[in-house]
Amino acid sequence: MPYYTKLGKLPSKRHIQFRRPDGKLYAEEVFGTEGFVGPTSTLYHINPPTQVIGWKALYSTKVEYVERDTMRMRHVKSAPLPPKGDAVTGRVVLFGNSDVEISVCAPAEPMKYHFKNAMADECFFIHFGSGTVFTMFGALKFGPKDYIVIPKGTIYRFEFDKTKAGEPQPRMLLMESVNGSHILPPPRYLSKKTAQFLEHAPYCERDLRLPEMPMTFDKKGSFEVRIKSRDLVHSYQYSYHPLDVVGWDGCYYPYCFNIDDFSPIVGKHHMPPPTHQTFEAHNFVICSFCPRPLDFHPQAIVVPYNHSNLDSDEVLYYVEGNYKARKGIEVGSLSLHPQGIPHGPHPGTPEATIGATHTNELAVMCDTFAPLYPTQAALDLDDLHYPRSWEHGWEPDEAAATAGDAKPKTTAKSTAAVKGKKSAATKSKAGTKTTRSGSASRGKAADTWS
Ligand SMILES: [Fe+2]
Repeated sequence: MPYYTKLGKLPSKRHIQFRRPDGKLYAEEVFGTEGFVGPTSTLYHINPPTQVIGWKALYSTKVEYVERDTMRMRHVKSAPLPPKGDAVTGRVVLFGNSDVEISVCAPAEPMKYHFKNAMADECFFIHFGSGTVFTMFGALKFGPKDYIVIPKGTIYRFEFDKTKAGEPQPRMLLMESVNGSHILPPPRYLSKKTAQFLEHAPYCERDLRLPEMPMTFDKKGSFEVRIKSRDLVHSYQYSYHPLDVVGWDGCYYPYCFNIDDFSPIVGKHHMPPPTHQTFEAHNFVICSFCPRPLDFHPQAIVVPYNHSNLDSDEVLYYVEGNYKARKGIEVGSLSLHPQGIPHGPHPGTPEATIGATHTNELAVMCDTFAPLYPTQAALDLDDLHYPRSWEHGWEPDEAAATAGDAKPKTTAKSTAAVKGKKSAATKSKAGTKTTRSGSASRGKAADTWS
């Protein structure tokens, strides 16, 4: 984060004697970025953070992408992904490139170790579930719809609350800056002189939830920290608890931000995606599409115009809302609209949504400047009919009924669809069914996906 804060006990100056109750020195660690000219924090450990008793490589994290030569719109339904692993081993990368990896994670078991991503900043979006992330900077309590930004090098452990009866199992989206850049608020939201959030920013310091106590675990024993580095996870063993910081200060730390605290900016005419920008890193941005009043020009078209985002691939993760406005989309769906071809509203939607006064959409978008590629896991969840869903008369129900709700398992099958095989999904029936929603008290609603 760009602004200064502190937690716990600190000496009056940097780099001076600061002693434990037993008279020995605390171990100072400068936690710096960009060659110590970027955001930095200074931490005081009970034990020297350099004392390690063992290490070994555990497993590769290198992601394999498929269909790198295929360019088409994609729709992946992630909801059917069953829970597996923990908050680290349960991650399933669906799309990515050399800048960012986009994964979903439905953890099935608790983390029995601490983790450090030494390659990337991580931005989680908690779709379902609540709990606490215990970090070296302190604890972050989280719940549904929280972003959790954990900067590179932070040691942490997710601990989810027990899921209550009738509630969904924990599930989260993760965007990881594999190009080594840092995920930060857009610079245009911040004062150049003070780094304070400016008045036009859709959120500010008060919306961010910073680490709190408990922070310090003064324990001896055998503790594992799994460190992601060099496209591998390494197991490091320590003889003391890795969260042993008694105090820290600076501008580099993890934090939470709930998407409901994002204040959408609305306009007389359709506002473009940068209006919804929440974070950015090198070569990608993260945006929040939140419930809001719609454009108020008396003749406004409230859904987006067809658009070519010539320099970006766009991934939308659908959190909640009226998905009937975009055919076939479900809670947990991810759509990928690649640079190179335009995308926009489905046929009939601009006309059908005229007069809509609000949207209840909630979605997280990740735009990248380089093409995104799918993994095999994405192909296994691929909705092959999606690229044809803009054809007049196309309905997802018809496609499912006549094409067996195709969930291709092979690249060859996907390629066939790309080549334009006439599928049952394309045998359109007359007329276009459009769906509206909204309560009488609030007027007509429409979803306005980017
Ligand atoms: Fe778009």
